[in-house]
Amino acid sequence: MRSMIQRPRGTRDFGPAEMAKRRKTEQAMREACARAGFGEVVTPTFEHTELFTLRSGQAVIDEMYAFRDKGDREMALRPEITASVIRFFVNELSNLPKPLKLYYVGNCFRYENPQSGRYREFFQLGAELIGAKNPETDAEVIALAVNCIRAAGLEDFSVRVGHIGILKSMVREEIKDEAVAAEVLRMLDKENFDAMGDMFDAKALPRKLFDRITTMAETKGGVEVLDNLEKSDATEYLREVFSVLKLYGIEDCQVDLGIVRGLDYYTGMVFEIDAPRLGAEKQIMGGGSYTLSELFGGEPVFSTGFAIGIDRVMLALDAEKPAVEYTPLDAYVIPAKDDMRKYAFGIVARLRSQGISADVDLMRRTMSKNLKYASAVGARFAVIVGKEEMAKRSVTLRDMKSGEQRVVLADELGKEFERLLR
Ligand code: HAM
Repeated sequence: MRSMIQRPRGTRDFGPAEMAKRRKTEQAMREACARAGFGEVVTPTFEHTELFTLRSGQAVIDEMYAFRDKGDREMALRPEITASVIRFFVNELSNLPKPLKLYYVGNCFRYENPQSGRYREFFQLGAELIGAKNPETDAEVIALAVNCIRAAGLEDFSVRVGHIGILKSMVREEIKDEAVAAEVLRMLDKENFDAMGDMFDAKALPRKLFDRITTMAETKGGVEVLDNLEKSDATEYLREVFSVLKLYGIEDCQVDLGIVRGLDYYTGMVFEIDAPRLGAEKQIMGGGSYTLSELFGGEPVFSTGFAIGIDRVMLALDAEKPAVEYTPLDAYVIPAKDDMRKYAFGIVARLRSQGISADVDLMRRTMSKNLKYASAVGARFAVIVGKEEMAKRSVTLRDMKSGEQRVVLADELGKEFERLLR
């Protein structure tokens, strides 16, 4: 026999029970986006490779699924969706009124080392607010990210807000070699201070700069930690972001000036959300303000956005509370004998048209086997049709949990289900 074909490393299959949970979570987050005035967009799963190599940074390039298509064009599976949304904006949406508020849900691909919470194909829900940069737009986007996570039902999470401008300008002012500066920022992103120290020694970079950078990167805490820093545009900007967040009812954010972000395009405020129960891969969301449009041939336009890792949100929800019971089927219709089969099909069609999820015996099983099947697939009720029921244009409704049974007229079945399921 041929050996089984396995799915590619770092990818997953999702069964019906898991998909029901994912869709419910996703839907709650979509509704949070719509409530804040964001409209949904969908962009292609693959793009010209250049779209991602222009500004996403080396880390993204190293992990890209890039290939040549049959027309010898360089293509890549999207590692993220922000670049695609801004390309779409530059191509077709730039005349729409600003700020333009867009959100998306889609799969992304990164050739990473797979582990729990880190996959080669994963799913994001993200949003981009295009057209302005001020504390209000940044706070609006942070508030949306927090509200999405709240809508998903997660309770244990922390929000950290920083400003990439502070560390970037510190590093770039003194390290003129762009590759070295980028490497330092990459180490800061990974909080790999030891390796950074070694690099400073190896390249004979000033130790004073190392101390200044690490002190800044370790500035974390309530908004009052900004009082300990020299006043700058960035610190005052962050103060304003925090004061708007407070008006939005979002008070438990922390300042974290060590946030660097793995993607290169950020220019101002940056923020992340962690679910502490997840361990190593605890970052469930990342975002910030950036400019990309001029890079793709458009006018320079400021934007702020974020993306939530849906897979990690699902893991965090699982870690927080027991999964809600999944009931795939409200009703399973069982004909007692072959003579009642046609009547049973009529009943199932009627239930479905009334919005009740219903299935019917398709395997010509006996009554007892059918009841076993109904219980195995988790049907909430069995709808049994025997000779007598058929004669009286009725059915026997059996609660699969309690075993209670009673006769209901076929005409009243829809209403009865509505009452029972409510
Ligand atoms: P990112 O931080 O690269 O940002 O990804 C956002 C989120 O996607 C992460 O916080 C994480 O939850 C999830 N994620 C990333 N890689 C993986 C993976 N290999 N497996 C599972 N989950 C993963 C962005 O993608 C930016 N486009 C966000 C943004 C939008 N910035 C501005 N606008």
